[in-house]
Amino acid sequence: MQVVVRPTKADASWLAARLIAAAIRAKPQLVLGLATGRTMERLYAKLVQLHREEALDFSLVRTFNLDEYIGLLPEDENSYRYYMNHHLFDHINIDKRNTHLPDGMTQDEKGEGRRYEEAISEAGGIDIQLLGIGRAGHIGFNEPLSALQSRTRSKALTPLTIAENSGEFADSARMPRRAITMGVGTILEAQRLLVLVTGETKAEILAKAVEGPITSMVSATAIQLHPNVQVVCDEEASTALSGREYYDWIFNNEPEWAPYRDIGE
Ligand code: GLP
Repeated sequence: MQVVVRPTKADASWLAARLIAAAIRAKPQLVLGLATGRTMERLYAKLVQLHREEALDFSLVRTFNLDEYIGLLPEDENSYRYYMNHHLFDHINIDKRNTHLPDGMTQDEKGEGRRYEEAISEAGGIDIQLLGIGRAGHIGFNEPLSALQSRTRSKALTPLTIAENSGEFADSARMPRRAITMGVGTILEAQRLLVLVTGETKAEILAKAVEGPITSMVSATAIQLHPNVQVVCDEEASTALSGREYYDWIFNNEPEWAPYRDIGE
């Protein structure tokens, strides 16, 4: 795992966007795993900017989102399908038929989990999975005690997640209590994980995820099991990390990071 700390949210988002852009340029038919949440809005704005200003080409890119709420129509402005269209897909040259989210309106949640896993396999697996970390320590909606080998399935959301995300709903009581999410095992099968974490409210959970003991109580700790992980965070989210000096040294000295050292705003 590598951890890169950038000064601001904007700088961290730029770096993550540049890493994704480099991967798309190296493999135009990239299979990209996507995440939602406030943190990702900044990153998606940067990807849209790269598409507009540097002709970043999404025409062959295929995407799979981590999760979707159960019971919301795709047109519902709180669904993750709506979020993705609104923040990214409507503004880039992606073929929407190549964009996938679990079907939150399914009558067969188990079958939907299997179908989603098969669709990922048929696409050849995920090349880069983008991840945020929820304050409950989840990746996707893998709430505490999600098995580290879990697959795509429906999960009940914790009170903390409901409290965190219900602010996004005009009527907070409308926030679904369940979601379909890729499992921790599904996420760990991606070739590479790119984790973006910003803001002081995430400092404690980021330190647990990166440096704490691996436990299904904090599904984000499972990223420690993956051989190819880049964590990009801002100064505010980094304050509880104990290995900061070493992480900075790697970023400032390892040749692979040279093209990214001056990226920022
Ligand atoms: C939701 C998503 C997660 C995301 C998390 C963090 O719960 N299911 O994939 O990482 O939110 O969101 P935010 O960036 O808004 O803190």
